[in-house]
Amino acid sequence: MRLSLLLLSLALLGSAAGVQAAGDPAAGKAKAGTCLACHGPDGNSTNPQWPKLAGQHAGYTKKQLVELKATVMRSNAMMAPMIAPLSEQDMDDLAAFYAIQPRTGGFASAERVDLGERVYRGGNLETGVAACIGCHGPRGLGDPLAGFPSLAGQHAEYVVIQLKAFRSGERMNDVSGMMRDVARWMSDDEMEAVAEYIAGLY
Ligand code: HEC
Ligand code: HEC
Repeated sequence: MRLSLLLLSLALLGSAAGVQAAGDPAAGKAKAGTCLACHGPDGNSTNPQWPKLAGQHAGYTKKQLVELKATVMRSNAMMAPMIAPLSEQDMDDLAAFYAIQPRTGGFASAERVDLGERVYRGGNLETGVAACIGCHGPRGLGDPLAGFPSLAGQHAEYVVIQLKAFRSGERMNDVSGMMRDVARWMSDDEMEAVAEYIAGLY
């Protein structure tokens, strides 16, 4: 029994490593020349509306690239022309490159952090907002195998844009509507506060 469990976890580890090995970070770096104007040379963007890609799970980044390219469940006018020429291999390489760059920390404005922490850790029982911590983890690092992205240190403005896009249904690439079910019940105030808390998590 023990042995079969051990073999199963080894097999799972093997397949996870296999997923990561699909991309070559050095090749990704060489292909990131058209991305750096917005996302920064190491995936740490300076404009708060443009996401940091540094430190993001490769699987999540790849999924976004595929979906932003398809423009059905998630689309963005700035990203579309950038992604159009990318092959599957380019996307794997870029995702592998960004995944190993260290993410710079953000910062949370002191007055919003209390509400933000409450929402992040406990959700809102009255209105039915699920706690972010359940999927994105205590340090905001997410879970690569489950497809939960890392949020820690992400720009607050970008986080609010995404939460609103999930709430309006404009972004609908979350499997089983997981994020739409969370954002649907959130007020603007809760979104802004939790985004500040997330920016300061690193
Ligand atoms: C002109 C600016 C610009 C350029 C150049 C650009 N991006 Fe983006 N990128 C954006 C914006 C803006 C978003 C946020 C889209 C949204 O709000 O949904 C984004 C989102 C993304 C996301 C989703 C991140 C997440 O956390 O979900 C990925 C991945 C990404 N870009 C990768 C790239 C790659 C790879 C390149 C180069 C091939 C690139 N981008 C070039 C502006 C840009
Ligand atoms: C049931 C699990 C679950 C819960 C609870 C949850 N999330 Fe998510 N979240 C996800 C998944 C899955 C995605 C990735 C969707 C995709 O594949 O594009 C995501 C994506 C996001 C993104 C987009 C990240 C990016 O880089 O574009 C943000 C922002 C986010 N979540 C914030 C939150 C906040 C804030 C809360 C709490 C109020 C929360 N999430 C609660 C599962 C969850």
